[in-house]
Amino acid sequence: MTKVAPSLLSADFCNMEQGVRMMERAGADYLHCDIMDGVFVPNISFGFQMISRLNEITDIPLDVHLMIVQPERYIERFAQAGADFITVHAEATDHLQRVLKQIAQCGKKPGAVLNPATPLEMVKYVLDDVDMILLMSVNPGYGGQSFIPAIMQKVEDLRTMIDTTGKKIDIEVDGGVDMKNCTRLREAGATVLVAGSAVFGAEDPAQAVRVLRGE
Ligand code: DX5
Ligand code: ZN
Repeated sequence: MTKVAPSLLSADFCNMEQGVRMMERAGADYLHCDIMDGVFVPNISFGFQMISRLNEITDIPLDVHLMIVQPERYIERFAQAGADFITVHAEATDHLQRVLKQIAQCGKKPGAVLNPATPLEMVKYVLDDVDMILLMSVNPGYGGQSFIPAIMQKVEDLRTMIDTTGKKIDIEVDGGVDMKNCTRLREAGATVLVAGSAVFGAEDPAQAVRVLRGE
């Protein structure tokens, strides 16, 4: 079944706990936490302390999306802070396979992320090392951007690539996911949908989560 991971980037940063409780009531499967360093992406969000506090106050698994250069420098600290999934950009490290191993060694679920223009070949030889591949459907940095239509085909192609290996790997899609494109995304093979504005901006977040999940 499709999982929904609301992005806390769209929450009110002065009322983060309220945002978390709202997502618990809405039935979110994971909490998507966007870590931005102002170098890999042109924005700065939050870091270890936020992950650590989130881990203390909720049982929802934390899906930590690292938009930072050389993520290998910080894997242990995010693991200790309480991340459940740690996803790293293929474009941000020279040694993707090594970082993915490092995440697994910390007992966390590793994922590789690709920016919209990055070809799927970048992850072809690390499929043994991931639980999840995250395809960006916007250029990372900000919430509220529009879905890049070409990514629909990329999801289909990745689904074919994964299925031919017989492995069970989630395909997560992040950026501009909404009520209009979620059905096609699920049909294309996405299994985890990240949604910031579509859930936090909804009048009824629980209903938004159900629609995204296809219920
Ligand atoms: C973008 C982030 C996303 C963002 C999604 O850089 O990685 O997780 O919060 O927000 P929406 O769903 O509003 O595009
Ligand atoms: Zn994200």
